[in-house]
Amino acid sequence: MKHLLKLMDLGKEEITKILNLADQLKYERKNNLNKKYLEGKKLGMIFEKSSTRTRVSFEAGMYELGGHALFLSSNDLQIGRGEPIQDTARVLSRYLDCIMIRTFAQEEVEKLAKYATIPVINGLTDFEHPCQVLADLMTIREYKGTLAGLKMCYIGDGNNMANSLIAGALKTGMRISVACPEGYEPHNTVMQWAAPNPDFLCTTDVFEAAKDADVLYTDVWASMGHEKEVQIRTEAFKGYQINRKVTASAKPDAIVLHCLPAHREQEITEEVFEQHAKEIFEQAENRIHAQKAIMVLLMKDAIGSC
Ligand code: CP
Ligand code: NVA
Repeated sequence: MKHLLKLMDLGKEEITKILNLADQLKYERKNNLNKKYLEGKKLGMIFEKSSTRTRVSFEAGMYELGGHALFLSSNDLQIGRGEPIQDTARVLSRYLDCIMIRTFAQEEVEKLAKYATIPVINGLTDFEHPCQVLADLMTIREYKGTLAGLKMCYIGDGNNMANSLIAGALKTGMRISVACPEGYEPHNTVMQWAAPNPDFLCTTDVFEAAKDADVLYTDVWASMGHEKEVQIRTEAFKGYQINRKVTASAKPDAIVLHCLPAHREQEITEEVFEQHAKEIFEQAENRIHAQKAIMVLLMKDAIGSC
């Protein structure tokens, strides 16, 4: 693995390798056995959108690994004044060992990777959020012991989370059903890739999607960049909510996940959110373990195999 640009690029074996290392790093952290796998390494973190979890978990994770993370807000970088990404890539490659970027267009991340001579990690684009979904798969495995054969149900916007969850689920042998209003389906590329797979279902019917699910998942109705559409989306997404009725159609031991931030009484009720807070915050914690694994694997050439 040279970069982590999207889950669509990864195979089952690569995903399993990341999840196994993430489990190991979580164990080591819990037992005060943290090792400085990335001593002296430098990670640049470019943010063109807001973040709590991604920023803090990457920065804290890099610190725990013995490295250093630099927060690079696009407002302060010359990118904000129009310096092309291909020049930024070539400059940063001479100072750093890895770049994480959160931006709008997936093409920007792909271009950064094309021109950089160091690994690039997608920290969220409008198309995918691979780091989040790796933490999600880790969480599901922790709670259920396996991934293959489980049914995940995603309710809400066919956004970056939906795209990445479809890729992550189908690549690891899970079944996935997505319930979204007409006109808000996942990206065409993902739909075309997933459509022939009998483990994939896309429907407008929330209850059909949630039936017998092992994992229920939702995300905000209006993602970053869609702030102007909040009103129209609030109307369109009415009913696309994880609530008591929806959890009743899933399996009795189903877990509920949310990538956060959550909007209570919109995509999830306060009641269900609090009932499943343990899973949801374990999922948030797992961001640090999954990303430490990604960084170690991407920079491992410099540190030997682990
Ligand atoms: N889930 C997630 O990526 O959160 P942040 O936007 O806070 O980074
Ligand atoms: N779909 C959301 C995810 C936030 C982590 C967004 O892009 O804003």
